[in-house]
Amino acid sequence: MQDYTGMFRLDGRVALVTGAGFGLGRSFALGLAAFGATVICADRDLENADETVGLARQSRGLAEASFVDVADAASTDRLFDEIDAKHGRLDILVNNAGISTIPARAHELPVEDWDRLMSINLRGVFLCTRRALATMLPRRSGSIVNIASIAGLTGYYPGFPRLGSNYSAAKAGVAGFTRQVATEYAADGIRVNAIAPGWHGGTNLGAASRAAATPEHTRRSEQAIHDRVPMHRRGAPDDLVGLVVYLASDASSYLTGQTIAHDGGWTVS
Ligand SMILES: NC(=O)c1ccc[n+]([C@@H]2O[C@H](COP(=O)([O-])OP(=O)(O)OC[C@H]3O[C@@H](n4cnc5c(N)ncnc54)[C@H](O)[C@@H]3O)[C@@H](O)[C@H]2O)c1
Repeated sequence: MQDYTGMFRLDGRVALVTGAGFGLGRSFALGLAAFGATVICADRDLENADETVGLARQSRGLAEASFVDVADAASTDRLFDEIDAKHGRLDILVNNAGISTIPARAHELPVEDWDRLMSINLRGVFLCTRRALATMLPRRSGSIVNIASIAGLTGYYPGFPRLGSNYSAAKAGVAGFTRQVATEYAADGIRVNAIAPGWHGGTNLGAASRAAATPEHTRRSEQAIHDRVPMHRRGAPDDLVGLVVYLASDASSYLTGQTIAHDGGWTVS
């Protein structure tokens, strides 16, 4: 019988996770390291990225920390120049770094918030992907995993602002970018897929809006989510590890261009 157990292993592969200093990105980095990859944990918060590296090493994982601001082309260029010089290869890119802004209906959304979010959540994905593709092309192999959101797949308005249209538009953009780049590079052996997480807790996303919200708004918000998610709970960052390892590894070798919702049933209810 064929031995299928090794198909998820990532030994000898080099992975880059952006926004690996906290939240989902930390779980992605630790999960990839647990399956054998050398993981570059990049974040604009270098102290947190160092902490992720420490956690990986505690479990005998191979990891290193790097600074990046994904919205800044000079900064992403510096990061990829370092990777090219040190490793000479990149097998896996997880475009995870992202922010949200204080939720507001579209007519009240500050233009500054639109621009700031787009520069990180959409432009940042492009800036990292273009350099990763250039590094992956000569080896004719690679897997890129973009972190989208269910907000890019469906609208949601429980009667009060919960998400911003800038966030939804950027994440829909990530799904479209994923499809197009997947098509362009499929014949070059490079696969591009996206994960659309639903409501996951234990991260800092939305911390500013939570701090600005009244206790009553927070209670109504959480209740609305709880009622609408068929599993009636938020996901945890570690719930996503199996999916990112699957998409990064040879286990998903015939899968490209897809955006997979990881949402406790939200998008099918
Ligand atoms: N938490 C959720 O429920 C959820 C749901 C759907 C999608 N997502 C997406 O998952 C990704 C991670 O979110 P999270 O919940 O872990 O948030 P988080 O705030 O806990 O972590 C985001 C990380 O990205 C880093 N970061 C932010 N801007 C950066 C920049 N310009 N350059 C480099 N690093 C930067 C932060 O320092 C932080 O470490 C985001 O793209 C987010 O939109 C999260």
